[in-house]
Amino acid sequence: MRIAIIGSGYVGLVSGACLADFGHEVTCIDKVHSKIDALRAGRMPIFEPGLEHLVERNVAAGQLTFSTELAKPASEADVVFIAVGTPSRRGDGHADLSYVYGAAREIAGALCGFTVVAIKSTVPVGTGDEVDRIIRSVNPAADFAVVSNPEFLREGAAIDDFKRPDRIVVGLAGDERARDAMAEVYRPLYLNKPPLIFTGRRTSELIKYAANAFLALKITFINEIADLCENVGANVQDVARGIGLDNRIGPKFLHAGPGYGGSCFPKDTSALVRTAQDSNAPLRLVETAVAVNDQRKRTIVRKVVSACGGNVRGKTIAILGLTFKPNTDDMREAPSLSIIQALIDLGAQVRAFDPEGMTQARTLLDSSVSYAEGPYECAEGAEALVIVTEWNQFRALDFGRLRRAMSSAVMVDLRNIYKREEILKHGFRYVNVGEGAAADLFTFAEAAE
Ligand code: UDX
Repeated sequence: MRIAIIGSGYVGLVSGACLADFGHEVTCIDKVHSKIDALRAGRMPIFEPGLEHLVERNVAAGQLTFSTELAKPASEADVVFIAVGTPSRRGDGHADLSYVYGAAREIAGALCGFTVVAIKSTVPVGTGDEVDRIIRSVNPAADFAVVSNPEFLREGAAIDDFKRPDRIVVGLAGDERARDAMAEVYRPLYLNKPPLIFTGRRTSELIKYAANAFLALKITFINEIADLCENVGANVQDVARGIGLDNRIGPKFLHAGPGYGGSCFPKDTSALVRTAQDSNAPLRLVETAVAVNDQRKRTIVRKVVSACGGNVRGKTIAILGLTFKPNTDDMREAPSLSIIQALIDLGAQVRAFDPEGMTQARTLLDSSVSYAEGPYECAEGAEALVIVTEWNQFRALDFGRLRRAMSSAVMVDLRNIYKREEILKHGFRYVNVGEGAAADLFTFAEAAE
């Protein structure tokens, strides 16, 4: 099939490279000339494991091309995907749909022969109807069908998620030709037999938001349980395991930490909350999760300050990990941003290290933050070492070396990647998330099989 993808950001580029790898003929389009130039030269605009190789292979095979012009690839395509950004609109938290509607207007003029317009961007319920209306009004003669086809990719694991999805969701508004075309797009995946769900277009749009909101609820729930554990002498990791083994609950997304961040959960929960309020069906659980997650960053700052003896003024705090999660360079809504700013406001000197996020971080963080080449340089002279993001390279630190480098041996592990006994052996003070004072007396012991 011939496929055009509008928007070569995270979703567009990963989807384009994977669809090309399935044997489709794909053109990834973006208005930003420098991005397309870089892609043509084999340079990726984002860090995503495996992406560069996948792009290179499919460009070499002639399956994947890049363009700044929409008209030709869109006119030749069987399916045009809209994968432009839908950022939070300033002020009201609604999704900003101007890029989606702009793309729709441009596509309308280019359409030639029956074409499916598939919306991959995360968009509020009813956006498909509006895109349909825009295309029809710009080009009344066009033969097309607008479908919703949300993506569920996780940054850092996006290629694997695309190729081995838990499910594929396609929302239709009655056109059987669109159903056949979308089945054809995903046919190469049938080998792994992921459920392909056809549903209504509005339902499909809501599925994406409901999925993200539900995951955000799970994380927020376990984060509050973590606070309770600290106060009552229980251990949140054991609670998570103990409840997660009930398969109605499931073990995933129950890691307590500094709160969720990233480009999806904060923006999508906020957009869903607004849609629900406007539709007279407020989602109070999701509203509360949003508020609790915001509040959490302040709780975490208090934790760091108290680990430093109640005061951080004039002290150097070493921050390991800046991105909202490992294996990405994405700093959007990363908990590190507000935690670091609060520490600076309290008079601390912050030194940070992140394997991929420092370029973006420099543009977002206070200019007083200094950056290190690695974890040990970061720890030099520091009062406390705070692990904010669980990159693999922080999982086996040399504690002897850290102790010698630091002015005081305090470790704040916001992702629970270490075991308390291990750290205490090295003479460190250890503060983590959701482990109450008496908790280590009774850790979870599993009987050997
Ligand atoms: C998410 C969804 O998983 C994906 O399906 C959707 O398409 C886009 O949003 P992503 O933002 O890439 O993907 O990251 P994800 O791995 O889901 O993590 C989101 C945030 O939650 C991170 O800040 C992460 O640290 C946090 N998190 C996740 C926790 O704090 N605890 C957990 O147990 C899981």
